Amino acid sequence: MATDAMPRFPDGFLWGVSTSAHQIEGAAGMRGPSVWDAFTAEPGRVKDGSTAAVACDHYHRYREDVALLAGLGVDAYRFSVSWPRVESPGGLDFYDRLVDELCAAGVRPVPTLFHWDLPAGLDWLERDTAARFAAYAAVVAERLGDRVGTWITLNEPAEHTLLGHALGVHAPGRELLFDALPVAHHQLLAHGLAVRALRAAGATDVGIANSHGPTWPASDEPADRDAADFYDVLLNRMFSDPVLTGRYPEGIGELMPGSPEETDADLEIIAEPLDWYGVNYYAPTRVGAPQGTETGSGGVTLPAGLPFSVRPIEGRPQTDFGWPVVPEGLTELLTGLRDRYGERLPPVMITENGCSYEGLDDRERIAYLDGHVRALHRAVEAGVDARGYFVWSLLDNFEWAEGYARRFGLVHVDFTTLARTPKASYGWFRELVRAQRCPPVG
Ligand code: FCB
Repeated sequence: MATDAMPRFPDGFLWGVSTSAHQIEGAAGMRGPSVWDAFTAEPGRVKDGSTAAVACDHYHRYREDVALLAGLGVDAYRFSVSWPRVESPGGLDFYDRLVDELCAAGVRPVPTLFHWDLPAGLDWLERDTAARFAAYAAVVAERLGDRVGTWITLNEPAEHTLLGHALGVHAPGRELLFDALPVAHHQLLAHGLAVRALRAAGATDVGIANSHGPTWPASDEPADRDAADFYDVLLNRMFSDPVLTGRYPEGIGELMPGSPEETDADLEIIAEPLDWYGVNYYAPTRVGAPQGTETGSGGVTLPAGLPFSVRPIEGRPQTDFGWPVVPEGLTELLTGLRDRYGERLPPVMITENGCSYEGLDDRERIAYLDGHVRALHRAVEAGVDARGYFVWSLLDNFEWAEGYARRFGLVHVDFTTLARTPKASYGWFRELVRAQRCPPVG
């Protein structure tokens, strides 16, 4: 663990932790089904055969969890609102109670409106889902807007498109490859319409949480560079160019559903200016020319025929998930986004960063987080306007297709007793936040 004093972040910088509804809430019987319920019910979809029916039972234990947040001393808590729960009678009452509890504890609520748990009857291949999302956003904002100032529309539409609809390893389990592109466009349209709906309901602090990571070419060979550029478009530009510049990367707009005129009209909505831009960062990806059947990050088997292959990053520590630990990738990423988008990039918040490790004495997690917070500070020193950092995650939780096998929490959850036990990293983060609030010395 690094022992040098952590450099100081600008005044007003937000320190927080993140979770998502499907991964922690449980109480599945008290909401409508989502695409994830159907997916996890299919044998073989989730590695340990588990479901999120109970998960951390946060629905019933939210008071204990808010007390953990208060004990941590964070400024803000990023959670997600479950659309299927909101559609169920009394579903919004839960978020009402949660927001009240957070406000009473002095923790700013930062809800994400969509973190992958689409109501089972809906489909992102349908354009109409975008308008429905905006209507749902308006209902939530109407109810919580008197106490919630900061909103996130979507979480990682890139992963939801790629893993859920192109590769079929997440819900809804479709393997459409490039025919999944309408899913990207409809989520982006949903984002833009929701920004308008939130603003109409009085919101003044709206962002999105997009996943990003530097893409490193496997070599200087043109074939590897081209493959890396292509991957960079898929991961780093397809969802940020439209949001920040009102255009798709070259060659992508033509592949979207609708006429060019319709796409242009949609892009105007998609590019509704944001108050801030959320970045989820875990690791860079090393990419080369295709090699046959490929393995992607996190061990996902990629189908043959893709124009790239994902290569291992050697010589780095790895998390339990097998992800390489590359803190300086965060500095590279943020300065790269600033250089790419210039004035169009609003202030940035790191809406997710974290790692999976076993154990309560989780020194590797402390080292990971320490390294990444310092890397973030280097980006700030290089002129990136970063305003917040959220650790993924408060609690060990249901890690999608991995089930309960990957533990990302600052707090350990025993999934038999549901007991919460703060890990060493919880104490470390609490001290970091506390020290950042002390008056500067000298
Ligand atoms: C992100 C997801 C989040 C969690 C972390 C580990 O891609 O947004 O729900 O699964 O990865």
